Amino acid sequence: MTAFAYTSYVTVTCAGEVSAMAKLSIIVAPDPRLKRQAEPVARVDREVRRLMDGMLEAMYEANGIGLAAPQVGALKRVLVADVSQPEEPAKPMRMANPEVVWHSEDLASGEEGCLSLPDHFGEVIRPRAVRVRFRDEDDVVQEIEADGLLAKCIQHEIDHLEGVLFVDHLSALKRGIILRKLSKQKKLLATG
Ligand code: NI
Repeated sequence: MTAFAYTSYVTVTCAGEVSAMAKLSIIVAPDPRLKRQAEPVARVDREVRRLMDGMLEAMYEANGIGLAAPQVGALKRVLVADVSQPEEPAKPMRMANPEVVWHSEDLASGEEGCLSLPDHFGEVIRPRAVRVRFRDEDDVVQEIEADGLLAKCIQHEIDHLEGVLFVDHLSALKRGIILRKLSKQKKLLATG
């Protein structure tokens, strides 16, 4: 139902090196690739930066506010996010090996959606605020404190790195309904 791009493009560097990079497409649940644990990156090099930029492009194109590497088929501990309001300047965030080093005792409940579960939403309870340590796009270790939408978004994306989807926080009944609907939709799409 959500339109993602499947076109690919080729970049030619001045050194004559040709590297083809397919535009990243977003995997829709249910899919075993969304249920696996992602591997840490050794360091943020050019390849990881390229992945981050490709993920941001795919995220913006799908009108998302966060995306994790397993959602584009890369089992790496990498996520991107931008929770800025439409009228604000874009504020892309790129994180490798993110980990929650502190979370608040108080919880916040809010509706979540996911680019891998298009058109489905559910109420998820999480810590209201978190402190997150990660490597940025320059391979520098950073720590930020987040609350509100950003805290929710980062926790949602880190879940993806563990193979956890927001529906895994819902009751088995609600999860089953959403996954069955998506599964049916995929079959319809596959048969044209
Ligand atoms: Ni998601």
